[in-house]
Amino acid sequence: MLSRSHIFFLLIPVLFSFTSMLCSSDELEYKFLLRVHIINALPQNSKPANIECKSTDTYIGERNLNVGDDFTWNAKESSLYYCRAFWGRFFASWHAVQPKRDDGKAAVFWLVNEHGFFLSWDNSTWVKKSVWETE
Ligand SMILES: *[C@@H]1O[C@H](CO)[C@@H](O)[C@H](O)[C@H]1NC(C)=O
Repeated sequence: MLSRSHIFFLLIPVLFSFTSMLCSSDELEYKFLLRVHIINALPQNSKPANIECKSTDTYIGERNLNVGDDFTWNAKESSLYYCRAFWGRFFASWHAVQPKRDDGKAAVFWLVNEHGFFLSWDNSTWVKKSVWETE
């Protein structure tokens, strides 16, 4: 029969692996993530904007973003993220996340309208960073 102390020692590895599961490296890296938002603020009834984003090592995806939609993901603060957009005969490409520029921010917001691409870190103060181009 197992004594109480035997059971205790048998439980140590179980408790240990459970604890390390809770403190996995993903968990520790969490604070270095920032939330990226790309918000389609084109005029009502516009055709969707096609937007595709990737970082140097991760493919984020491609969306047909309708007016009012928000394309959002968690980015690693230390990576550069590129996006490109098509809207009718217009196109654009820009850095959705730039490690030096966005260092220490919790979120990066992009407002896309007919005048171009506007950056904010608080979803309220916007600075124009890029414009639509045509051939
Ligand atoms: C950003 O601001 C707009 C307008 O105030 C609001 O509708 C939207 O929910 C906000 N988005 C986030 C992610 O805070």
